[in-house]
Amino acid sequence: MCGIVGYIGEKEALPILINGLKALEYRGYDSAGVAVFSKNGIREKKTVGQVEVLEKAVGDDVDFKGNLGIAHTRWATHGAPSEANAHPHSDCSRRVFLVHNGIIENYKELKNYLSERGHIFKSETDTESVAHLIEDFLEEGKDFKTALIDTLKMIRGAYALAIADAKNPEILYAAKLSSPLVIGVGKDENFLASDPSAVIGNTRDFIYLKDGELAEITRDKINISNLEKQPTPIEIVRLEWNLEQAQKGDFPHFMLKEIFEGPEIVRFAFRGRIISKENRVMLGGLEQVSDKIKKIKRLIILACGTSYYAGLVGEYLFEEIAKLPTEVHFASEFRYREEPFDEGTAVLAISQSGETADTLAALRKAKEKGLLTLGIVNTVGSTIARETNAGVYNHAGPEIGVASTKAFLSQITILVLMAIYLSKSNDKDSLTESLLKELEKIPEKIEKILLQAPAIEKLALKYKDCGNFLFIGRRYNYPTALEGALKLKEVSYIHAEGYGAGEMKHGPLAMISPDFPTMAIVPQNGVSEKIYSNLEEIKARKGPILAIATEGDKKISSLANDVIYIPKTIEPLEPLLTVVPLQLFAYYAGVNRGFNVDKPRNLAKSVTVE
Ligand code: M6R
Repeated sequence: MCGIVGYIGEKEALPILINGLKALEYRGYDSAGVAVFSKNGIREKKTVGQVEVLEKAVGDDVDFKGNLGIAHTRWATHGAPSEANAHPHSDCSRRVFLVHNGIIENYKELKNYLSERGHIFKSETDTESVAHLIEDFLEEGKDFKTALIDTLKMIRGAYALAIADAKNPEILYAAKLSSPLVIGVGKDENFLASDPSAVIGNTRDFIYLKDGELAEITRDKINISNLEKQPTPIEIVRLEWNLEQAQKGDFPHFMLKEIFEGPEIVRFAFRGRIISKENRVMLGGLEQVSDKIKKIKRLIILACGTSYYAGLVGEYLFEEIAKLPTEVHFASEFRYREEPFDEGTAVLAISQSGETADTLAALRKAKEKGLLTLGIVNTVGSTIARETNAGVYNHAGPEIGVASTKAFLSQITILVLMAIYLSKSNDKDSLTESLLKELEKIPEKIEKILLQAPAIEKLALKYKDCGNFLFIGRRYNYPTALEGALKLKEVSYIHAEGYGAGEMKHGPLAMISPDFPTMAIVPQNGVSEKIYSNLEEIKARKGPILAIATEGDKKISSLANDVIYIPKTIEPLEPLLTVVPLQLFAYYAGVNRGFNVDKPRNLAKSVTVE
């Protein structure tokens, strides 16, 4: 996730901007840039790597002076991390400068249109098209604000933008749609940032810009309007936060913040990748190997932990949607297997961090065997991302909590897209259509589940002192059961096991007793009747049952002691909904047992040792 900082006031902008970028480092980044503006002109610098590199690069430049500035840490989405792709981006005349967080979905159309009109592009980013579009409207004789508004009306996607007009370094513009942006209100100075943590050392008063709003900020005035130029009400919020609290926003822990980012994360994973009109998926990262992908006959998914469970969901998806024989291996086991590989075998490594030692070693083994290697990786430029032949980035932003939550949602979203992309079946149209349509509704459905957080906390309080927990599910929700158990173990230290519900009679049923609860994942689908029978068996042995079931399910309340209802969706997408209450349940169990859920004992976020 990119980070934005802006400043206008009486002070030198540069140190404020650099400090702001440092405070946003937790968002993750691969390159950074800054531009300051004064009557004497523009100073601009972009560097690859840490903010420190940028700081050093501008440190000796005595002319890097100006009271207006914009700065950015970039988390690459379109185009590799490089100086050319780092922000700020500008137009041909170097009048319009801007930094952006989000994705401009129609940037290709805009780029083609603007190129035909003579604009020369210097980067591979989606963002640069916005600067050129503003310039194009300016060339028609429009004033800066109108040119900006006309641009915002033409772009599709998500944006938080900080924009400077080099001709008029007395005003800073800001606009937002679906990406966060706040204005820090000071005395004779104002600030702009992706979140308050960037400038909390300078002010505690903030305006949270709303979607569709445009702000014109001078050193002593802030005007906010909608895109029809009508003023909108301004509410200033006073924050009494320290830096860490500011990074977490209103959330007490990163884990909860990241669970609540779920809807946005799913949107970021599919945004710009679904071509609804043509009922197909576009995955730019796989285009370079599209010929080889057509020849894949067998897919081996390699991953660890939560990413492995996402891989298990992927197995069902690839087999059902792409009709592709798929198997999933713990990366740590695959390394030591000596199985033969037929021609047409490809490997898919899944990793949030992109640095997990076991996954990397397994990937390298596959490369040695000459297999095509693909990746689903969240961290841009990480080792696994670099070492795979091709891949798809999650765009989920950094995950700080050790327990993986939002990464799981984005991995599954991408696996759905990848399964459609790999699909060779002739009758894919109706299934693809329903999958794509329903995928776009998933974020709203997750939002509905998140509203139940207080009720889920009550259930966590009720069950938090149980020494053991069983999680059961079938088909697509078998991996969800495994993931739910892992989450509970990891953050609450309650012993938990995940099982395929059909396996109960083959062993686990022996454990059931009044103090051994079962979390049953039983949304209404083709296998729910089977799970009801499994639940009857548990109930007969007086085992407490907590169920995740579909809204409107009449039968479940007669079987389960407690039920968390979730909206209906189609079976291949169910894990995107069923996992959310499990994440919340684990979170509240851990917190109410008094543990640091963000940093569980004995665990590290990135497991770079075998
Ligand atoms: O970064 P990766 O996705 O490769 O990490 C894999 C596992 O270490 C990770 O998912 C781990 O299991 C999480 N802590 C689970 O919450």
